[in-house]
Amino acid sequence: MTSTDRAGHGYPCVSMDEFKLGMRHLAAAVTVITVDSNGTQDGLTATAACSVSAEPPQLLICVNTLAGAHDLIATEGTFCVNVLNTEQEDIAKRFAGIDGAPRSERYGLGSWTTLTTGAPVLEDAMVSFDCEVVQQVLAGTHTVFIGHIVGLKAAQQGMPLMYGVGQFVGLDVGL
Ligand SMILES: Cc1cc2nc3c(=O)[nH]c(=O)nc-3n(C[C@H](O)[C@H](O)[C@H](O)COP(=O)(O)O)c2cc1C
Repeated sequence: MTSTDRAGHGYPCVSMDEFKLGMRHLAAAVTVITVDSNGTQDGLTATAACSVSAEPPQLLICVNTLAGAHDLIATEGTFCVNVLNTEQEDIAKRFAGIDGAPRSERYGLGSWTTLTTGAPVLEDAMVSFDCEVVQQVLAGTHTVFIGHIVGLKAAQQGMPLMYGVGQFVGLDVGL
């Protein structure tokens, strides 16, 4: 379906500018989604990651079909979601391609290990979810990948890095 298509009741959809304005206000945790396919690694910064099911344990991610990691995730059938802490903003910028570093240096920041699937796991991330793809759905510009969680590593300390109203911020628990 394209943006000019009409769904269900036939209501016209909001414009892309309205969509972007709305999404600026949907603050979310910042993650780096990683993949390794026979030694070829890629990854991207993403906020579109959320819980789906506890039994079986599943989460979903939404990845632009044009992102370098997209086809690797689709063909390899595995990925890892690394939830960043407030000390890892530089890694968020690196994997979003906004710090000017070449793609070959995406893994040049931070320390990396693996869990079950071989997808890169960021040491000191708030939590890393190692996943096997069980479903994928093309939705406009993005593919929704549903991952079965086959490995998990959680940190003992740190606070999550968030993104909202166009900026990176630390989660402030002082309400
Ligand atoms: C805070 C933030 C959140 C993002 N969230 C997503 C996301 O959920 N899905 C996505 O496909 N791209 C997202 N992006 C964009 C990708 O990180 C960016 O397009 C990246 O460069 C994709 O990798 P590429 O260089 O291989 O295209 C986000 C970027 C930022 C800065």
